[in-house]
Amino acid sequence: MSIRIVMLGDIVGTAGRLALAQCMPALRERYQPNLVIANAENAANGSGLTPALHSKLAAMGIDGMTLGDHVYKKKEIMRTLEEDPTLIRAANLPASAAGRGWMRLTPTTSVAAGGERGPSVYVITLLGRVFMNLPVNHPFEVIEQVLSQLPSRESIVLVEMHAEATSEKVAMGWYLNGRVAAVLGTHTHIPTADARILPAEPQHGRPGGSPTLGAAGGTAYITDLGMTGPYDSILGRRIDRVLHHMTTSMHAPYDVAEGNPRVCGVSIDVNETSLRATAIERIDMPADVTKPPFTSG
Ligand SMILES: [Fe+2]
Ligand SMILES: [Fe+2]
Repeated sequence: MSIRIVMLGDIVGTAGRLALAQCMPALRERYQPNLVIANAENAANGSGLTPALHSKLAAMGIDGMTLGDHVYKKKEIMRTLEEDPTLIRAANLPASAAGRGWMRLTPTTSVAAGGERGPSVYVITLLGRVFMNLPVNHPFEVIEQVLSQLPSRESIVLVEMHAEATSEKVAMGWYLNGRVAAVLGTHTHIPTADARILPAEPQHGRPGGSPTLGAAGGTAYITDLGMTGPYDSILGRRIDRVLHHMTTSMHAPYDVAEGNPRVCGVSIDVNETSLRATAIERIDMPADVTKPPFTSG
């Protein structure tokens, strides 16, 4: 028996939200996921998430949401972060930061052989430290602390690495290879073509005396899911505005773009017994802006 988890990349602005609303039925039909997760850090006009948008996304069928470096851009989300156990901020923010660093989700239709409910899915988001502005704790140390607190030997664990540098993301993938079901990169908004199941690596030891000398493999990995948002843009922002700033060094408001909205992410199959991934497939679904909900009718 396996569980299928869909995770979608950063939902950007109105275009991203409408694309998701339009594509969700087709996505469900095609992938038949047991759980859908999305990063929603750019949902509110490109920066942050509001309680109202959080409710709208949940109503579309997003079972759990994560937030990255834009977590507190809309202050009103702090209460939702404290109250809703299916919305998380990064685990390597200071302990005093509002919200929780991991969430436990229950796959909707997962019933293992014999009628017993299958394993829970724990989701953890980590912020990278290379080329990032937020002062955060060491992601490699923090993930060890979190994993030691979770029943990770009986659960499916999905780690989102929200980071700028590809090196830091792929390093986390190999670091956790064989210990978690998936390490999925977000934040850079450009989908990468390296989705795969990491292989066993018997010749590699771990620095610092980690007990997992020689990783078993079985971790689904991608450097970036891409965004769920407008791709005729510069990372979701209007091309003219960003070019004005970059070519003149003069200020221009980075308004959110609208063109070519797409839903991007991955679908992962995780074996309920081994708790490791057996398949990963990239999702890239274009929305049709001539149809509802982009048009009023
Ligand atoms: Fe983002
Ligand atoms: Fe981000």
